[in-house]
Amino acid sequence: MKENKREKTIILAIETSCDETAASVVENGRNVLSNIISSQIEIHKEFGGVVPEVASRKHIENINDVVSRAMIEANTKPNDIDAIAVTYGPGLVGALLVGINFAKGLSYAWEKPLIGVNHIEGHINANYIENKDLKPPFLCLVVSGGHTDLVHVKDYGIYEVLGMTRDDAAGEAFDKVARAIGLGYPGGPLIDKAAMAGNKDAIKFPRAIIDDDTLDFSFSGLKSAVLNYLHNSKQKNETVKIEDVAASFQEAVVDVLAAKTIKAAKQENLTTIALAGGVASNSSLRKRLQEKCLTHNYIFMKPSPILCTDNAAMVGCAGYYKYLAEKFADSSLNAMPNLELAN
Ligand code: KG4
Ligand code: ZN
Repeated sequence: MKENKREKTIILAIETSCDETAASVVENGRNVLSNIISSQIEIHKEFGGVVPEVASRKHIENINDVVSRAMIEANTKPNDIDAIAVTYGPGLVGALLVGINFAKGLSYAWEKPLIGVNHIEGHINANYIENKDLKPPFLCLVVSGGHTDLVHVKDYGIYEVLGMTRDDAAGEAFDKVARAIGLGYPGGPLIDKAAMAGNKDAIKFPRAIIDDDTLDFSFSGLKSAVLNYLHNSKQKNETVKIEDVAASFQEAVVDVLAAKTIKAAKQENLTTIALAGGVASNSSLRKRLQEKCLTHNYIFMKPSPILCTDNAAMVGCAGYYKYLAEKFADSSLNAMPNLELAN
């Protein structure tokens, strides 16, 4: 990797992979000068989930304003920018295309290099922002709406995926269960809140493949178990305590995530564990991993919730390390909805 000879490298980053239009200006990868996030949650709420076409349309309406605000808040002019980083996958194709096209336009007009960033790599890199001393290697549990991955971060930009979900992602399970118990969208934060008033031992839900050798996950059986429980209770005319269902479901998810994370750390001989992605905001998961790491004498890192949710600061951070590695994109950069984490 190229050593950064310049005192300052400033990246303008753009993120539009799902329902947040975001832009950020990041200095030297870890110093966030601005982090603007325009969320569409209120719009998608009435549909009970993200409507891809609506998301694309909202990105196109908002992106100019979001990028301008990021530049103004950071007190940066186009000339101060060294490169433009943009998420090019995974995500919703129409949503990604808005950000990519906008970034290409700026790259062309301002004559600045373009960098394509993997959204999951962005989530992992969010850990560098607040933990200035964090360096690879470390283990990262990535839990988002579309992913549940255990990743060995071998070096900047070098990843090995040790395990992943075989069916539903953790966030997807949260969202589906929240819908089933009538909490609405987005499910994760609502289950987290409801669970605080519930009994986590009230209902014994399954912990899929927790004891298997694999580092893979599976959450669809747990989701079905919750649906069956609700169905059976209704048939028996029993009242369901939503808070207990939320707490018991969350406990089952956290048990599996924590057990597999510790298993992976032991297997890979890693003593630093990081958490990333939207579900990384979950209070019970954060607490459990913190406790487990304390017991095993591991260092535990977790980004603040604002850096766990989709944002562009994490894209700017990942973009910086790609800038140092001179991994630039050209004007043919396209959206990759199923992009995988690769070296
Ligand atoms: O990373 P993210 O913002 O978007 C994707 O890349 O998918 O993750 C969104 C997911 C949603 O499924 C949402 O319900 C979940 O993160 N989430 C949570 C919490 N906050 C957000 N899940 C559990 N507990 C939370 N506090
Ligand atoms: Zn995300």
